[in-house]
Amino acid sequence: MAILSIVVVSLICGLSMFAVRGASNDQLEVYSWWTGPGEEEGLAAMAKSFEGTNPGVRFVNAAVSGGAGSNAKAILASRLLANDPPDSYQRHAGLELLDDVRSGKVQDLSDLYRQQGWNKVFPKGLIENLTIDDRIYAVPVNIHRANLMWYLPKTLKDLGISAPPKTWKEFLAQAEQIKAKGKIPLAVGPEWTQKHLLETVLLGELGADNYDKLWAGQLSWLSPEVTGALDTYTKVLAVSDVKSAAGDWQPQLDKVVSGSAVYAVMGDWSSSYLEQTKNLAWQTGYNVVASPGTDGIYDFLSDSFTLPTGARRPDLARKWLIECGSTDGQNLFNPLKGSIPARTDADAALYKNYLSWALQQWRDPKTRIVGSLTHGVVANNAYNAEIDSALGLFVQDDDQAKFARTVELQYRETQ
Ligand code: GAL
Repeated sequence: MAILSIVVVSLICGLSMFAVRGASNDQLEVYSWWTGPGEEEGLAAMAKSFEGTNPGVRFVNAAVSGGAGSNAKAILASRLLANDPPDSYQRHAGLELLDDVRSGKVQDLSDLYRQQGWNKVFPKGLIENLTIDDRIYAVPVNIHRANLMWYLPKTLKDLGISAPPKTWKEFLAQAEQIKAKGKIPLAVGPEWTQKHLLETVLLGELGADNYDKLWAGQLSWLSPEVTGALDTYTKVLAVSDVKSAAGDWQPQLDKVVSGSAVYAVMGDWSSSYLEQTKNLAWQTGYNVVASPGTDGIYDFLSDSFTLPTGARRPDLARKWLIECGSTDGQNLFNPLKGSIPARTDADAALYKNYLSWALQQWRDPKTRIVGSLTHGVVANNAYNAEIDSALGLFVQDDDQAKFARTVELQYRETQ
């Protein structure tokens, strides 16, 4: 009997030890959606550096694949709901953070900012996008640019096109010429890439002021300006391969690389893919310009990491955040990731090729900065989800007026 009790007690103890799974202080679980070439290496470089400064601690990479967090965000939501947060997770700067803050899912990091002197090294506008009610909730590791159009100079040359289009009108004229030669004018990918395209067409057609007003609820989706921009988007989609789009953003770019498509609108994570994975040299092998109508505008987003409430290893998580916010961490990560550092004091010489241009544009005081819709800056999650559903239908049924009415209504419903 005594032996049986010992067995039962030790089994229960064993089970309860199991129940606090992973709470040991020898590992850190970091959640992101970086599983593709470039981004995976960038994360691995920071992880290695973290393990180096924290001997005996293993970095557990809990990344879930799917561009723009298309799968990761849903899985994270169920983990947070079940009170099973990773030790740190990726979020974009901007309104994407709001739900987590309001529902108490993330911790205030203002003290860490003070301790690390980050208030002085991150741009003011970026910190504002990480601050809610005077508290700062995430640590930015980079700056990405969304409004870019990628192409191969060789493809343009073969088609007799002297330069990429400066406006969407010019793009549509080129598209006729391109179609006549049997190529796809514009490659797109899954739904989130179609939304990414929508935001760049809106920006190019409306201009930065009206783009900002749209997200601030000061310009109606039913206004003549937005109706005109949506007309253009409909025409742009019609000369894309949207009806047969499959795969993620890498296959989207692969069509440009193979020459079956001429252009792709995508963020600058593409630079790392094209340079490091596809071995194409900037400006000669591949090239990139601001998407039509957006020269001088930087449609920005920023990948940031949080300290979740109930994280099993908050002290280690803070050390990870220090890695993310450090000059060394950012300089290890960003050249591989295809992004520029969030820190203003990072050494520009480390950023070569496309990234040298990006850094110069970002730091140019004449550059106008706006925030990305698809990547979390300008719309809260509820509104973004409504846009997703409405856009999914719009792409199927081409009913532009219904789309505009729905998103106009949903703006009011979701604020
Ligand atoms: C963005 C993210 C980038 C990159 C991209 C493609 O949302 O900020 O870092 O991962 O998605 O997946």
